[in-house]
Amino acid sequence: MKFEDHPHGVDDGASRLTRRAMFQSGAALAGAHAPLLAHAQSAPAAGPAANPAAVAEPPPQRMPLQLEINGKPQRLEVDTRTTLLDALRENLRMNGTKKGCDHGQCGACTVLIEGRRTNACLTLAVMHDGQSVTTIEGLAQGDTLHPIQQAFLDHDGFQCGYCTPGQICSAAGMLAEVKLGMPSHVTRDLAAGAVTLTEAEIRERMSGNLCRCSAYPNIVAAIKEAAGARS
Ligand code: FES
Ligand code: FES
Repeated sequence: MKFEDHPHGVDDGASRLTRRAMFQSGAALAGAHAPLLAHAQSAPAAGPAANPAAVAEPPPQRMPLQLEINGKPQRLEVDTRTTLLDALRENLRMNGTKKGCDHGQCGACTVLIEGRRTNACLTLAVMHDGQSVTTIEGLAQGDTLHPIQQAFLDHDGFQCGYCTPGQICSAAGMLAEVKLGMPSHVTRDLAAGAVTLTEAEIRERMSGNLCRCSAYPNIVAAIKEAAGARS
């Protein structure tokens, strides 16, 4: 009778034999694996010591850097991997420029480098040695707001305000591009030379600046007014 068929769960000779055989084979397997287990437990962790040919990671490199920020020379020394955004916010403690996505998707970090709008999270600080950077802190003249800042206030071009520094810097760069006659994807007449700043033009040209509060109609109205004030 098999063990599992026994009415009282007591094994008879046949089932004892089977169980003994099972335990014996198990013990044999454990015995066979013992040297392998012992080796695995005593083997050192893989790494440079285990592989002398492995190249050790180089230490971070630092570089001195000079930037002209909002008209003032600034000397700093940064890890070469530091983005311009982090150099502004972390090294220089200028928190006006915002970090939204840190991946070039939202435009919150827009600054002007040599007058051209740039996502500061997408460029390394050391790439701009000797260049001028304008941030939101540098647009006003003393107590007089920049016309775009004033227009944003007048048109309620924000709600939470987190995207606003990037929107305003981007608008400043964008209006300079329009002045130079640079076309966009929605410019109808490339031969005309001068761009007519329609609402479609503004929306297209500002499409790299997202607003989670969706204040877009007011932002467009503010930029329209600022463009008029500046022309
Ligand atoms: S933080 Fe730079 S684009 Fe979003
Ligand atoms: S005002 Fe809140 S994200 Fe634009």
